[in-house]
Amino acid sequence: MHRPVLVREVLAALALKPGVTVIDGTVGAGGHAAKIAAAVGPSGRVVGVDRDSLMLRHAAEALASYPWATVHQASHSELRTALDDAGVDRADAVLLDLGLSSDQLADETRGFAFQLGDGRGGGPLDLRFDVRHGRPAADLLVEADEAELTRLFTEYGEHPRAAAIAAEIVRRRDVAPIRFADELAALVEAVAPAGGGSHPATRIFQALRIAVNDELGHVERTLADVLPAVLKPGGRAAILTFHSLEDRLVKRAFVEANGWRPLAKKPVTATPSETRLNPRARSAKLRAALRTTA
Ligand SMILES: C[S@@+](CC[C@H](N)C(=O)[O-])C[C@H]1O[C@@H](n2cnc3c(N)ncnc32)[C@H](O)[C@@H]1O
Repeated sequence: MHRPVLVREVLAALALKPGVTVIDGTVGAGGHAAKIAAAVGPSGRVVGVDRDSLMLRHAAEALASYPWATVHQASHSELRTALDDAGVDRADAVLLDLGLSSDQLADETRGFAFQLGDGRGGGPLDLRFDVRHGRPAADLLVEADEAELTRLFTEYGEHPRAAAIAAEIVRRRDVAPIRFADELAALVEAVAPAGGGSHPATRIFQALRIAVNDELGHVERTLADVLPAVLKPGGRAAILTFHSLEDRLVKRAFVEANGWRPLAKKPVTATPSETRLNPRARSAKLRAALRTTA
C-alpha cells in the first residue's frame, strides 16, 4: 500500500480551510487527497488528476466517503480540461507529488516491478503511466542509438556506467530485442554489479520512465503555464519531488519574477522518524509558493 509522504507538512503549506477548492494533480492512491478532502469538508472541492487509470481506481476508492472529491484521467499539464470536466474555474491550492507510487512499483503488467525477481519476467518493459500515449520503453530500447541511450542514462539516471550499459544494450538487441523488465535488470547487473544500496538498475529504469513519459516536459509546462492559469491570486502550490532534476525545475520556477513568493528558501524534508517508517521519504523535497499575480 502507498504511504503518502510529508502529509502534515503538505497540509500546512497549502493552508487549507473548510470550503476551499484544491487540485491534487498527481492523485495516485489518494492518500494526500483523502486528508485534503477531510480538511476542506463538504463545502469545499477536491479535483484529483492522474495519468494512470490504475491509480485513479485506487484514488476513487480512497475518496469514496468524500463526494466533494472527483477524479479525472489527465496529465497535470492538462489541468484546465480536468477543471472544466469538474465544473471548477480556479483553485485555492494545488498539490503535485511527482514520481512513482508503491502501487505502480507492485504492478507486474508494465515493467515497474523488475525487482520482484520472481522469474515471471517483471512484466513487459513498458513504463508508461498512460498506455494510450507515447511508446513503450521496449520500443525506445530498439529505436534509440547508443549516444541517445548514453545521454538518457546520464542525464535522467545519473548512472556512472551509462555508456557501458548503453553499449551492452546495443550489442544484445542485435541478437534479440529486450522485451521484459527482468531481462534489462539482469543486463544492467552484469555490466554494473550491485555495490550495496538500491538495485543497480533502479536509475536506468528511472531514466527510461522519465523519457517515455516525457516527465520533465510535463513538469516544465505545468510550472510555466498551467499553475499560473488555474490558481487564484493568493493561491498556493506545493510540489514534492524525488530527484534533483525535478527539484531544480521547481526551485527555478518559484521566484518573485515569475509571480511566486516561495514560502521558504530551503525545501522541507522528512524527519528521521518518517524516513524510518517510509524509506521513500528519504529523497523527498517539498517546495511551496504563493501566487502573487492574477
Ligand atoms: C507519488 S504518486 C502520488 C501519490 C499520492 N500523493 C498519494 O498520496 O497516494 C505519483 C503519481 O503521479 C502520477 N503522475 C506522474 N506523472 C503525471 C502527470 N504528468 N500528470 C498526472 N499524474 C502523473 C503517477 O501515475 C502516480 O500515480
